[in-house]
Amino acid sequence: MKDNEKILILDFYGQYNQLIARRVRENNVYSEIVTFDITVEKIKEIAPKGIIFTGGPSSVYSENAPKVDNKIFELGIPILGICYGLQLISQTFGGNVARANRREYGTMPVNIDNTSPLFAGFENVNECLMTHSDFVDKLPAGFKKIAYTDDCPIAGIADDERKIYGIQFHPEVNHTKNGIKIISNFLDICGCKRTWNMSSFVEESVKALKEKIGDKKALCALSGGVDSSVAAVLLNKAIGKNLTCIFVDHGLLRKNEGDEVEKVFREQYDINLVRVNAKDRFLAKLAGITEPERKRKIIGEEFIRVFEEEAKKIGKVEFLVQGTIYPDVIESGVGKGQTIKSHHNVGGLPDYVNFEEIVEPLRDLFKDEVRKTGLELGIPENLVYRQPFPGPGLAIRVIGDITDEKLNILKEADYIFREEIAKAGLDRKLNQYFAVLTNLKSVGVMGDERTYDYTLALRAVETSDFMTATWARIPYEILEKVSSRIVNEVKHINRIVYDITSKPPATIEWE
Ligand code: XMP
Repeated sequence: MKDNEKILILDFYGQYNQLIARRVRENNVYSEIVTFDITVEKIKEIAPKGIIFTGGPSSVYSENAPKVDNKIFELGIPILGICYGLQLISQTFGGNVARANRREYGTMPVNIDNTSPLFAGFENVNECLMTHSDFVDKLPAGFKKIAYTDDCPIAGIADDERKIYGIQFHPEVNHTKNGIKIISNFLDICGCKRTWNMSSFVEESVKALKEKIGDKKALCALSGGVDSSVAAVLLNKAIGKNLTCIFVDHGLLRKNEGDEVEKVFREQYDINLVRVNAKDRFLAKLAGITEPERKRKIIGEEFIRVFEEEAKKIGKVEFLVQGTIYPDVIESGVGKGQTIKSHHNVGGLPDYVNFEEIVEPLRDLFKDEVRKTGLELGIPENLVYRQPFPGPGLAIRVIGDITDEKLNILKEADYIFREEIAKAGLDRKLNQYFAVLTNLKSVGVMGDERTYDYTLALRAVETSDFMTATWARIPYEILEKVSSRIVNEVKHINRIVYDITSKPPATIEWE
């Protein structure tokens, strides 16, 4: 995003940093997160209109406290420090940061000086989220106080001359009333014109991709998910038939899904599309396998093999397109915890293929921005708002060994569940909902006959980040309808259960 005005967010490892970036973008200004130790030379190169220091878990007094190069304050670029950011600015300019007896956490009324440009348009008291132990108890030189609470004598500072500001509370979270307006006021202080939006993104990306790729060839692994679909359409707009998309249909997609994806890309976009129907290959490899991680590994490896074979047929390609998005970029590199599941993304693995460079046209976008870009490009809503679907597909929703018959049972049942959820208007409210074919058989009675058939589990969750999730309180009437339709319409299912565990302790998928 070379031509756009930018806000640079210096990351001190606070938990809400992505939110800060989003709030800035919601104000139509492009923002980027970089680590706190970015050099001043690099900042000059980027030439942001403003800089935000995030919060973070450290104390400015701790041994390895993250610090910035003080020359940053001489660049004449407006700065806003949030929480730790405020404390760092205060310490730098000779203020004092004290340790509180107890941690202040929660939403509370903050007295604010609404004559400050940072609080323009506010009442003189505003509910804000405070979460901190340290606090500033002596103003730094050249700053005035613009906010305080009963427990925190200095909750906001300003040097209007140099346009350096600091606040103890978090404007980026919804708990802070009108927090986005504080960010917006800071953007005014920075003199931002607010021209960033998805249509300018599309325009600029197409131009940049054209320049970069020219007449060379690019290859894209299309999964039918929103990220790879948007990436493919963007590339198609830039380089037309020089893009080839390979859609490996492993037969583990939901009912009709493969055909729907194919239809959109062939009919609506006239994209060079190779669909590989590889179900038999995948099922043969998966036969008798029950262990979830083995399933993932087999599918990941087989995917690469199929993709490689197809890519070879196309001949030389210079670029491989990937649908990496901004949260993936930020999260990679940060220390990862224990592996719970290996999360094979079958769209993103082919590093054996012969190409020179990877293109990631969405690496600056958050998920909701990818969706907006998709709509901007005319991709149908059902694809743009498709719920996340795991790369290994239904293989990890058929518990135990996978057979064609079990897959078909699951596809039908899952389809009915999705249909009823959509009818009830819950499809955008629930973040993920699907059926799982358990490996359990139980006795039932149908008419006068005894049955001995599968138990199907329904799963639906609400979540914002998929790291934690709450089981969804779907109204009983809807569950009842789904249950009765499935046992009546899908052969070999005679019992339905609803999963009422959240994550943690369960995970969203069963395997
Ligand atoms: P869990 O089950 O770990 O799932 O709570 C969190 C999110 O990740 C998805 N998921 C996967 N996605 N490959 C993927 O691309 C995988 O192997 C995989 N396993 C789980 C899951 O659907 C949920 O959205």
